[in-house]
Amino acid sequence: MVRAPHHIGVRRTDNSSEATLHDMDSMEFNKIAGAVLVAGLIASASGILANLLGQPHELEANVYQVAIADGDAGGAATQEAAAPAGPGPISGLLAAADPSAGEKVSRKCTACHSFDDGGANKVGPNLWDVVGRAKGAVDGFSYSDALKGFGGNWGYEELNLFLYRPKDYISGTSMSYGGLRKEADRANLIAYMRSLSGSPQPLPE
Ligand code: HEC
Repeated sequence: MVRAPHHIGVRRTDNSSEATLHDMDSMEFNKIAGAVLVAGLIASASGILANLLGQPHELEANVYQVAIADGDAGGAATQEAAAPAGPGPISGLLAAADPSAGEKVSRKCTACHSFDDGGANKVGPNLWDVVGRAKGAVDGFSYSDALKGFGGNWGYEELNLFLYRPKDYISGTSMSYGGLRKEADRANLIAYMRSLSGSPQPLPE
């Protein structure tokens, strides 16, 4: 205020230019102070904004969903998530598998299958001596075209794949059964089925 007359007035030489410089300095200072203030405001506003925007992300579901299959141990579930295409190989687990535990698992099948030598076909074919047998080979059972046409024998890994999820292995099969997701159940059951034979197939190497 004190200096106001200087810059309204006609531009004089020495003194006035000094005064103008001084004014410029304080204007610069104001500009800088203003800029700092604005920067501060932007920073805190963007902080608040980031918080607001950030929150929904935290609430979103995990992008990587881990499928937990019926009561499997965590390790097995993780394996499934990493390789959703199907089960890992079973051959290495058969030597240590427990056929009598497998017999208990086979109760899930007996509504549709008999397991004894010469047992009747039910909803599904008799399963005596099925390990190593050609697919779709039981006389008098009317298989689906999908299974009949599939080809090959029921080796250990074929049974493993089929029992894991029948319709994934033979799409169009008439076996209406969801499958056994637990590796130990499949290993024990296949070891039991192997024992149901006059001359059981050799265990895999
Ligand atoms: C709801 C009835 C049903 C249940 C439960 C069932 N199956 Fe089957 N299964 C069938 C039918 C039907 C077929 C014939 C499928 C086809 O022709 O496509 C079959 C076919 C099979 C075959 C192929 C046999 C061959 O001669 O080619 C095997 C092996 C088999 N089942 C094993 C099992 C096991 C082990 C279980 C229990 C974990 C089981 N199934 C549970 C109905 C069933």
